[in-house]
Amino acid sequence: MSLVESPLLSIRNFYKKYGDGCLFCTTDSESENPYMDGNRCLECGTVWACRNLNFDLYQGEILGIVGESGSGKSTLVKSLFFNEEPTYGEMYLASYRDGEQNVFDCSHQTKRYLQNHELGMVDQNPYHGLRMDYSSGGNIAEKLIAADYSHVGQMVERAEELLEKVEIPVARMNEPPRKFSGGMQQRVQISKALANRPPLLLLGEITTGLDLSVQARVLDLIRTIQQELKVSMIVISHDLGVIRMLTDRTLVLNQGRIVENGLTDQIMEDPQHAYTQLLVHSLL
Ligand SMILES: Nc1ncnc2c1ncn2[C@@H]1O[C@H](COP(=O)(O)OP(=O)(O)OP(=O)(O)O)[C@@H](O)[C@H]1O
Ligand SMILES: [Mg+2]
Ligand SMILES: [Zn+2]
Repeated sequence: MSLVESPLLSIRNFYKKYGDGCLFCTTDSESENPYMDGNRCLECGTVWACRNLNFDLYQGEILGIVGESGSGKSTLVKSLFFNEEPTYGEMYLASYRDGEQNVFDCSHQTKRYLQNHELGMVDQNPYHGLRMDYSSGGNIAEKLIAADYSHVGQMVERAEELLEKVEIPVARMNEPPRKFSGGMQQRVQISKALANRPPLLLLGEITTGLDLSVQARVLDLIRTIQQELKVSMIVISHDLGVIRMLTDRTLVLNQGRIVENGLTDQIMEDPQHAYTQLLVHSLL
């Protein structure tokens, strides 16, 4: 056994641009580029939503990604779930070919396989993540079928188990999420995302728009699930309160770059970067 644990997920030199780019904006120097206004090229209008991101995620860890609106959080998470094409960069998953294959380079088919077997995603908007007119059980079954389940009895059993885990009464399994409250819809999304037992769960800004008390219950649930299942998670939020409650380690994004990366407690106590200081102070 090796003494150094290898990461479950590694991201290297990840870039995502929206636009064609030009000679003035494609050279990435750390010093200020006079042709760029933050992450946007003044010459060609291209937005560099993620710029040279590098990070690792370890087994059982919850990693927070925090940053203001437009800092690149959703772009990153969509790319990790293969819903956006990266501009450059590498992604390695320990569960796929021993973490030696850059999965961004894999075929569409392989990415679909990874989506169905290795990843779970909870969208900020339950209307994106669920079919509102299917039953809740049917939503879970859809994910199970994608992950190669075929035995109906087993699927029903698994759906019941999952709904129980997220505290949705099993008696309501046949009701569509459309009839549920916002907090319940998010809980159905979480159960669906967990259905295939993914080692990695990606959580968008899942508590946006929920009442504080409902928010607290959803966050509590996520912590319980993490302790029980030891699933690794990436949680994105613009809310440092959510990040503080859930995560072990945090990346702070600002205009597409990581400006701070460390233990969440340390970042909260002693933020180094001016931008992080601003975020922390606005929380107090
Ligand atoms: N499809 C797109 N086409 C063009 N630009 C885009 C597209 N998606 C995102 N962007 C730009 O990329 C940048 C990062 O956007 P992103 O959605 O990742 O930010 P975010 O951190 O998730 O913000 P929010 O907190 O508001 O959700 C923004 O400047 C945005 O305008
Ligand atoms: Mg977003
Ligand atoms: Zn440009």
